[in-house]
Amino acid sequence: MGKSSCLALISFFIFSLFMAEIDGSKQGQVFNKFQKSKYKVDSQVDRSDFNAQEVVVDNHIVHSQKGLKEKDRIDKLPGQPQVNFSQYGGYVTIDKLAGRALYYYFVESQHSKEKMPLLLWLNGGPGCSSLAYGAMEELGPFRVNSDGKTLAKKRYSWNYAANVLFLESPAGVGFSYSNKSSDYDTSGDRKTATDNYKFLVNWLERFPEYKKRDFYIAGESYAGHYVPQLAHTILDNNKKANKTIINLKGIMIGNAVINDETDNRGTFDYLASHAIISDQAANDINTVCNFSSDANPIQCQTAIDEYVRDVSFIDIYNIYAPLCSNPNLTALPKKNTIVIDPCSGVYTHAYLNRANVQEALHANITKLKYDWESCSDIIFSKWGDSPSTIIPLLHEFLNNGLRVWIFSGDTDGVVPVTSTKYSIKKMNLSTKTAWYPWFFDGEVGGYAEVYNGGLTFATVREAGHEVPSYQPGRALSLIMHFLNGTPLPTTKRQP
Ligand SMILES: *[C@@H]1O[C@H](CO)[C@@H](O)[C@H](O)[C@H]1NC(C)=O
Ligand SMILES: *[C@@H]1O[C@H](CO)[C@@H](O)[C@H](O)[C@H]1NC(C)=O
Ligand SMILES: *[C@@H]1O[C@H](CO)[C@@H](O)[C@H](O)[C@H]1NC(C)=O
Ligand SMILES: *[C@@H]1O[C@H](CO)[C@@H](O)[C@H](O)[C@H]1NC(C)=O
Ligand SMILES: *[C@@H]1O[C@H](CO)[C@@H](O)[C@H](O)[C@H]1NC(C)=O
Ligand SMILES: *[C@@H]1O[C@H](CO)[C@@H](O)[C@H](O)[C@H]1NC(C)=O
Ligand SMILES: *[C@@H]1O[C@H](CO)[C@@H](O)[C@H](O)[C@H]1NC(C)=O
Repeated sequence: MGKSSCLALISFFIFSLFMAEIDGSKQGQVFNKFQKSKYKVDSQVDRSDFNAQEVVVDNHIVHSQKGLKEKDRIDKLPGQPQVNFSQYGGYVTIDKLAGRALYYYFVESQHSKEKMPLLLWLNGGPGCSSLAYGAMEELGPFRVNSDGKTLAKKRYSWNYAANVLFLESPAGVGFSYSNKSSDYDTSGDRKTATDNYKFLVNWLERFPEYKKRDFYIAGESYAGHYVPQLAHTILDNNKKANKTIINLKGIMIGNAVINDETDNRGTFDYLASHAIISDQAANDINTVCNFSSDANPIQCQTAIDEYVRDVSFIDIYNIYAPLCSNPNLTALPKKNTIVIDPCSGVYTHAYLNRANVQEALHANITKLKYDWESCSDIIFSKWGDSPSTIIPLLHEFLNNGLRVWIFSGDTDGVVPVTSTKYSIKKMNLSTKTAWYPWFFDGEVGGYAEVYNGGLTFATVREAGHEVPSYQPGRALSLIMHFLNGTPLPTTKRQP
């Protein structure tokens, strides 16, 4: 085990001890717990580079989807305001023998849906739900009100820019399930990519009007693995079939797990430079601690103790955000603000566990024995594989002409902007457009740098780990520019 392993071990072990206290942060909590097991001394997790499993797209994989699209149409979600776009929700079977099915929620564009691209959004974990975070708390058209039973319309929903598909993946996450319970013990990056791919080819059969549409994948956090791995699987299968089975044009990942060594080093450097931990602690953790070894100097333990104390009373997913002080539902909905309520995870959990909501969503049709959770309690304990880096995949995409954007909310302390900068530096790309401020609504939305080969890096100013939750306007501008393939605006005036 190398240096990187040690750092991962420390940071993630510590986080898992106290993060349970903070609502709405479960996504990172799961990631941290997972990273701990990934790098422990006797780890069983395969950390070698990713390679796709070949999926022969024939009638064993693609099933008839006749009539299923109309069955999936959602008339109206409970407590939902009136809207003029279509919503669908339902299951796609990806393994008939095992009885494994993934749940999706799909919102068509608010206008010109026939022309708009198709965008798949994935959340991380491993094991966290894109319905919980992506759809209900970040970029979907609605937000759950504080009463836990009604919805409010979001002003900056991404379905102004695309037809947006949210997928709960892998099986065991959210409403997605397998009838073969041993499936939950064989999860991992490779199986997730293959299952997501099988989902997509079947979903496109159910919604054939999207088959030839420009297709993009975006996601955050541990989806820094899922998104590139699915993209690689798509490219690989297109190549092997010698035809465009899926018309993938680009990927975008935010506050993403990219390269464990730089991700970890960047975390401590970020926390020190943002005056959360001392420079001494960051330096000691980065240079003195060696967790491949059982015996570490006292200096290392002191640094860790300091670090635990320093971060334990703040929301590390958005270092300047208030905490959820009263997680009770309210009898009447509180007035919504542009920035998400820190207790929103509680509202979403209440809403998605309501029987009438599940019925409207066409979810939980097999009456699962456990509650719906934003991050799965059942799958990640036996995660089989997780490469230590996904940089080779990013290089592959650039070489194949895919658009690749990496964004970062600059107040996240879990996969901070410093980590992302270190990881991009590791890619050795030459600069095409030097670092510049980009504008949204008369203000700096963040900073951007464009690299030769087709990679754009963009920060989003004053956004935490879940960027669209904290800066919905800037996030919508970001996705629009990504999908249009246009540079982020260099001047205050909007083009
Ligand atoms: C649907 O509503 C949105 C915003 O409310 C509006 O911009 C759009 O033009 C409407 N589309 C149709 C087809 O009426
Ligand atoms: C799982 O089992 C239930 C109950 O037998 C069945 O209704 C359902 O269709 C099965 N799921 C899949 C994906 O085959
Ligand atoms: C791939 O398809 C193209 C166009 O259909 C054809 O010209 C080419 O020979 C095919 N290549 C292989 C390896 O089958
Ligand atoms: C960390 O400890 C292991 C086990 O004792 C040792 O093999 C390795 O060389 C050490 N690494 C560093 C960077 O000191
Ligand atoms: C939340 O609800 C519980 C149970 O009804 C109650 O005991 C508690 O005082 C409430 N908390 C706040 C901060 O109002
Ligand atoms: C599914 O439905 C059952 C029965 O209504 C309920 O007890 C369970 O919490 C639900 N589970 C999920 C994951 O939605
Ligand atoms: C990056 O570039 C440096 C200097 O040109 C070279 O030594 C190094 O091997 C390169 N690293 C990668 C990952 O390509």
